[in-house]
Amino acid sequence: MPATIVVGTQWGDEGKGKFTDLIAKEMSAVVRYQGGHNAGHTLVVDGESFALQLVPSGVLYDHITPIIGNGVVVDPVVLLAEMDMLASKGVDCSRLKVSGNAHMILPYHQELDRLIERHLGKNKLGTTKRGIGPTYADKASRVGIRLQDLLDPTIFREKLRVAVAEKNLVLAKVYNRLGFDADELADRYLDDVLPRIAPHIADTVSLVHEFLEAGNHVLFEGAQATFLDIDHGTYPYVTSSNPVAGGACVGAGVGPRAIDRVVGIAKAYVTRVGAGPFPTELHDEIGDRICEIGHEFGTNTGRRRRCGWFDIPMMRQAVRLNSLSELAITKLDVLDTFDTVKACVAYDIDGRRVEHLPYHQSDFHAATPVYEEFAGWGTDLSAVTERAGLPAAADAYLAFLEREVGVPISLVGTGPGREQFVHFTA
Ligand code: GDP
Ligand code: IMO
Ligand code: MG
Repeated sequence: MPATIVVGTQWGDEGKGKFTDLIAKEMSAVVRYQGGHNAGHTLVVDGESFALQLVPSGVLYDHITPIIGNGVVVDPVVLLAEMDMLASKGVDCSRLKVSGNAHMILPYHQELDRLIERHLGKNKLGTTKRGIGPTYADKASRVGIRLQDLLDPTIFREKLRVAVAEKNLVLAKVYNRLGFDADELADRYLDDVLPRIAPHIADTVSLVHEFLEAGNHVLFEGAQATFLDIDHGTYPYVTSSNPVAGGACVGAGVGPRAIDRVVGIAKAYVTRVGAGPFPTELHDEIGDRICEIGHEFGTNTGRRRRCGWFDIPMMRQAVRLNSLSELAITKLDVLDTFDTVKACVAYDIDGRRVEHLPYHQSDFHAATPVYEEFAGWGTDLSAVTERAGLPAAADAYLAFLEREVGVPISLVGTGPGREQFVHFTA
């Protein structure tokens, strides 16, 4: 029962969507296992761009069943809008299944996300304001509402009344805001959302196991990334779920022995959106050039991404946390015009050379990168499709990363298009 996980190894936007779409060709199902519409996964096929937030990146293939697992938080209104957007581009979403156990993002979650950020002031995280944190908080507090609740209108109304009563107290007494009308919300969701979403709600755990037991290949698509993980990331500057590979087991309902391949996706440099430590961040014209050439602006929030050089100690930690079997490097082409390219090989922390990710986050905040410098290649890589076609300097840079990180680099992205990649290690 072959199963593969695609996981982000940095702070998100590594190009997971592109490589999921690429690898998905051989799969029968693609499963999202955590996060929600805070994700923005871009696929470019035949020059047409698809920005996906909730729908798994395998959706463009007719033979694939896209599945949204129990670990995802779903705003059903956003999901239906995304399916409409795809339908308008000729993509059929009728096969899409979403777990009845997935928790729903409701309007009060988004309102609270905004208010909490405002309350935090200069300490804000820079969330996507999609209601992700408050929805996972309700799940953990056991006052969340799951998609399956919609299928029992009496239960749905009752749960919504209880949840809204508590949220309205918080909104009024903490934030001095007007509350929500539980019955009006219930009517809206039961009348407008339920009829359209009901055919898609399923027991996705059974579905995934049926695929695996029949010998079909399943791909688990991570959103966000290793260092945005609530347990292993740069807390509190993280998201509220577990993007790491282990999250796929929990968020889709499979055991670790079901997984036999874990592909880590990393940019040839690093980006981060929102607040939090970032040792290799560039505050100079090189950072601006990477941002400009790489179009480093959020897929769905439009925010400018912070840019910096590749960080090897982080990547070694990502290998451990995810049991990576291989690495796919994206956006190598963005570095085409740089005279020199750098990679951080260690940190200087108060005069000590540290080659691993420091355990204490104050050390990570204080870490100054120690760089290795490489000659640039000064060649347009966008049409290169074989390793032999890579300039020697680009090959040397990748070979260095591969050796230092300690796992093979299987694929290298040379442009946003589905066909723009190189098999690096066969
Ligand atoms: P994700 O969230 O990890 O799926 O990544 P995003 O889609 O948010 O951001 C990655 C961006 O880089 C998208 O605009 C992709 O189309 C683009 N992209 C992916 N791989 C490559 C590549 O190898 N080269 C270039 N130039 N762009 C790429
Ligand atoms: P993909 O899947 C990059 C960041 C936000 C913020 C933090 C918490 O496209 O890689 P949240 O709304 O999740 O509570 O925000 O996490 N963040 C992402 N950054 N890519 C993403 O998704 C992200 N999803 C959340 O910017 O710093
Ligand atoms: Mg993204």
